[in-house]
Amino acid sequence: MSGKSAKPVSASAIEKHVYKVFPNDMNSHNTVFGGMIMAKCDRLALVVAERHSAHVCVTAAVDSIHFRAPAKGNDTLLFSLALNRSWGSSMEIGAKVEAENSYTGDTRHILSAFFTFVALDENGRPVDVPAVTPETDEQNRRYANAEIRRAGRLKTREELSRANR
Ligand SMILES: CC(C)(COP(=O)(O)OP(=O)(O)OC[C@H]1O[C@@H](n2cnc3c(N)ncnc32)[C@H](O)[C@@H]1OP(=O)(O)O)[C@@H](O)C(=O)NCCC(=O)NCCS
Repeated sequence: MSGKSAKPVSASAIEKHVYKVFPNDMNSHNTVFGGMIMAKCDRLALVVAERHSAHVCVTAAVDSIHFRAPAKGNDTLLFSLALNRSWGSSMEIGAKVEAENSYTGDTRHILSAFFTFVALDENGRPVDVPAVTPETDEQNRRYANAEIRRAGRLKTREELSRANR
């Protein structure tokens, strides 16, 4: 871990960023195009990673994207993203998207995903980032779970590399 001062999750988090669905966001099935939602998550996760690290960051991996329910025309999408944990140069950012019916206030959970971003120095090489300090029970739970996911990612990478030697 770097010698940089740890930062709280709240210093970089994005809470319910609003995006109003319009007709040009729909797919041929007349629900909201999933690729648009994924691209917006990637862009917002980048902001979280860059706020936390104060460096240029790139997406290294995305896992566990789950579309839990379709979003529909005229919904309002609410994007929430937070840094779950950082290690050396890499950071896991959790994303949650809800669809709100803005007339009734009802919300539905649309998507969950985990993004891994890597911070780069001025030569484009991975650079260490600050640790993150979880402050709530929920943030502590995500912090612990992120380590389990990272262990799984590293194990899979290693096994694949061994299998393809
Ligand atoms: C991400 C990238 C910078 C990593 O470079 P690398 O030479 O593999 O660097 P390292 O092996 O030193 O790994 C650096 C960190 O990235 C992590 N990492 C690398 N590949 C990863 C992957 N596929 N999934 C998760 N983490 C990964 C490593 O675990 C390491 O984390 P740590 O520093 O916290 O321990 C490089 O693979 C890259 O540039 N990829 C393309 C990124 C891109 O173009 N994204 C899309 C547009 S933004």
